[in-house]
Amino acid sequence: MGGAGGRGGQNAMAGVCGAVGGAEGAGGGAAVGTIDIRDLWEHYRLYHDRTHSLKEVLVRFRRARYENLWALQGVTMRVEPGEAVGVIGANGSGKSTLLKCVARVIEPSRGTVSVRGRVSALLELGAGFHPDLTGRENVFINGAMLGMTRREVRARFDEIVGFSELEQFIDSPVRTYSSGMYMRLGFSVAVHVDPDVLLVDEVLAVGDEQFQAKCRARIAAMKARGVTILFVSHDLPRVQEVCDRVVWLDRGVVRAEGASAEVVQEYAGRSE
Ligand SMILES: Nc1ncnc2c1ncn2[C@@H]1O[C@H](COP(=O)(O)OP(=O)(O)OP(=O)(O)O)[C@@H](O)[C@H]1O
Ligand SMILES: [Mg+2]
Repeated sequence: MGGAGGRGGQNAMAGVCGAVGGAEGAGGGAAVGTIDIRDLWEHYRLYHDRTHSLKEVLVRFRRARYENLWALQGVTMRVEPGEAVGVIGANGSGKSTLLKCVARVIEPSRGTVSVRGRVSALLELGAGFHPDLTGRENVFINGAMLGMTRREVRARFDEIVGFSELEQFIDSPVRTYSSGMYMRLGFSVAVHVDPDVLLVDEVLAVGDEQFQAKCRARIAAMKARGVTILFVSHDLPRVQEVCDRVVWLDRGVVRAEGASAEVVQEYAGRSE
């Protein structure tokens, strides 16, 4: 799941979950809620020279050429249980790739990502829901992906839908939803699974002001309960509000890391 695919494709907002521990746990004995990323490298293939016609295929019988695009280049960072850490950086700097690695949507090319505990991820628009199924059906599927049993989803269903405020639309196919409605449903499922680690990738921005405020309150409440949060956003004041610490990614490399206000200020004043 995850990866490419717009809202028109088979995906929408994703809730992704993995309960990870044991052998892959952060440093073996690390406490639940720890994220430990060591020397993480991630590449994508960037294809060139696509052939356009059958003649070209026949005449130039060869593979498509590609180069490796290194989206992450040796990222090392650690998030302690209960910490809220922001990840900021220009478009294409590797933030979503980092979160996808933590959510185990993609495998690292090199290096290790260890997470202790249940991970709930709200990734960017483009992964997760089945467009032809209803909101109700997607809540059950998404809940299962997040590690909940059917019974658990049923027990929390009204709360999930109530939080999303989508009661009227819950039996419509999600392809008829607006971006904000996708986000509402995805966020509602993701925060109702009692995760140890919550990953949020730049999705709140599509919500209206009232729902964004509700999401922020919910995130603050989860933080107060000790949930570890990794928060990606271009909304710098929000990052400062939500996060204790910020990591600035620049072309796949950690350029700065430290107290939120300082790193945000440094990033805002960057000269490239
Ligand atoms: N599925 C993919 N296939 C090929 N290249 C990709 C893919 N996903 C991301 N990339 C490339 O990896 C780099 C990092 O992308 P990523 O989505 O992680 O950036 P980002 O920091 O989240 O950017 P934004 O602020 O725009 O959300 C970019 O150069 C992008 O083109
Ligand atoms: Mg992104």
